[in-house]
Amino acid sequence: MKDEAGFTFYDLAPGEDSFRDAVLAGLARPRKAIPCKYLYDERGSALFEQICRLPEYYPTRTEIKILQENAEDIAAQVGPHARIIEFGSGASHKARILLQALDRPLAYLAVDISREHLREAAAALAQDFPEVAVVALCADYSGPFTLPPLPGPAGRRLGFFPGSTIGNFKPGAAVAFLANCAHILGPGGEMLIGVDLKKESAVLDAAYNDRAGVTAAFNLNLFARINRELDADLDLDAFEHVAFYSESKGRVEIYIRSLADQQAKIAGHRFAFAAGELIHTEYSYKYGVEEFRDLAARAGFHLLDTWTDRDDLFSLHYFRRR
Ligand code: AVJ
Repeated sequence: MKDEAGFTFYDLAPGEDSFRDAVLAGLARPRKAIPCKYLYDERGSALFEQICRLPEYYPTRTEIKILQENAEDIAAQVGPHARIIEFGSGASHKARILLQALDRPLAYLAVDISREHLREAAAALAQDFPEVAVVALCADYSGPFTLPPLPGPAGRRLGFFPGSTIGNFKPGAAVAFLANCAHILGPGGEMLIGVDLKKESAVLDAAYNDRAGVTAAFNLNLFARINRELDADLDLDAFEHVAFYSESKGRVEIYIRSLADQQAKIAGHRFAFAAGELIHTEYSYKYGVEEFRDLAARAGFHLLDTWTDRDDLFSLHYFRRR
């Protein structure tokens, strides 16, 4: 624990070993795959911020609009003196909207895997919300996790998980994640979750294959990161970004495709890639409103409210622990 400019910082982030081990293990599998959390190094986090501003990428602006249009309603549900815990806080843009709307929030705990990004966001937020106790926790929340003590007297804890980041988990893992949230939020704990909705595949395909190529750069940055950090010689021009919506699976599937038969050396190990071979990097599950409510119920949450946009692109759900 460390006190920094206006906020408390906890560092539980996985070290470099974890990235190396995950890459070596993931590329040794018959169907190569690397966990999507490794997309978010400094460069990846900056590229993701750019994705959020793309014309094709509707989720961010749609969710922000839902938040803004229903801010009073949400604040009334949450009540005064809430303590917010955000998972995958990124630049904390949405938390600002929430904190602004809430009645005298006590504390904001930001959990993110991207260390410097998190530090900057927490410092800026602490400066702009001097009344709110700001805590930053650099950690990987994709497995079981616990929280540092939250400032303030015991009271309502609100988990905040916007951006449809829940879509990165397979449904079973999403239930496990939410069950862990229910556990750490404690009795009376509540959760505000943004979930991208199922829709026409053309809209989804466009959102994950933007014309400016930012999503491709974001995805391929994973291989650039391997070169930067793991003493590797992947030929970045010999791979391409692939993303498509699978209607039957209800998810966008994202891969890096090898354009040739080739080999690469990574941290002293050799790997072969066949022409056309796919390396899986991310899933982005989409849910119907009812479907997601049922999923959350399996984790011990019952629904209090759902807000959506006019075009039913995106949903914001408010749950309470049973
Ligand atoms: C941050 C996981 C919600 O799935 O839409 C965006 C990540 N990947 N474009 C998503 C992402 C490619 C994003 N999430």
